[in-house]
Amino acid sequence: MPIAIVSALAEEQGNLLQALRQPQRLRHAGREFWRGQLGEREVVLVLSGIGKVAAATTAAVLLECLHARCIVFTGVAGGLGEGVQVGDVVVATHFLQHDMDASPIFPRWEVPGYGRALFPCDAALSAPLLEAASACLARDRATFDQEFSAARGARAYHGLIVSGDRFVSTSAESQALRGALAGAGHAALAVEMEGAAVAQVCADYGAPFAALRTISDRADDDAPTDFSRFVREVASRHTERIVRAALPQ
Ligand code: ADE
Repeated sequence: MPIAIVSALAEEQGNLLQALRQPQRLRHAGREFWRGQLGEREVVLVLSGIGKVAAATTAAVLLECLHARCIVFTGVAGGLGEGVQVGDVVVATHFLQHDMDASPIFPRWEVPGYGRALFPCDAALSAPLLEAASACLARDRATFDQEFSAARGARAYHGLIVSGDRFVSTSAESQALRGALAGAGHAALAVEMEGAAVAQVCADYGAPFAALRTISDRADDDAPTDFSRFVREVASRHTERIVRAALPQ
């Protein structure tokens, strides 16, 4: 059974597809799934497209039709946590859908029918990702600092990522989101548009899930420019290095 590696965009998948040995293409549900070998691992690579529904469809197909044994999502995210900067890497401990709101029938963010807002990632699958992220960032620090004129080296974080069908692109919105979450005791490190959907599907199937996101922007007024630049120039190299270093044996 293969490990599924999912990204929303081709730039986020990087050169993983080029690195795939004995690639076999399968088309299903409007997507191209690539099965093959990365190192010693049997994997399936796919682009989900952007947003929670696209991600959920992709995850269901991976688990139902391609019999993936686990899913790793990799890509970029906006930094929400204090001090989480462009170039930092976040490995998720949990996900929450920040645009889920069935209040006053259910508490804000609770997914109706599940009795909870938080969906945990698999600790055993996440640990090597965090380890590989820290090692890769330490090794590539000099190159990276030069590219981003960073005041400090990039860091690897482990914590809550929130997802919603919105590109958060104003300081006011990210501040409001951070404040609302903090009010309920949630300290989100990053925001993106797919992870929580995949986490929910994986919970439905009892499949292990992990996610690694490189921070492309601060989800603020500069987010559209920062995102475009980062995705174009850096995301793919980061993704490929970290994921390949982390692939579980
Ligand atoms: N992915 C990367 N940056 C993002 C942002 N600012 N909002 C939502 N998803 C993102």
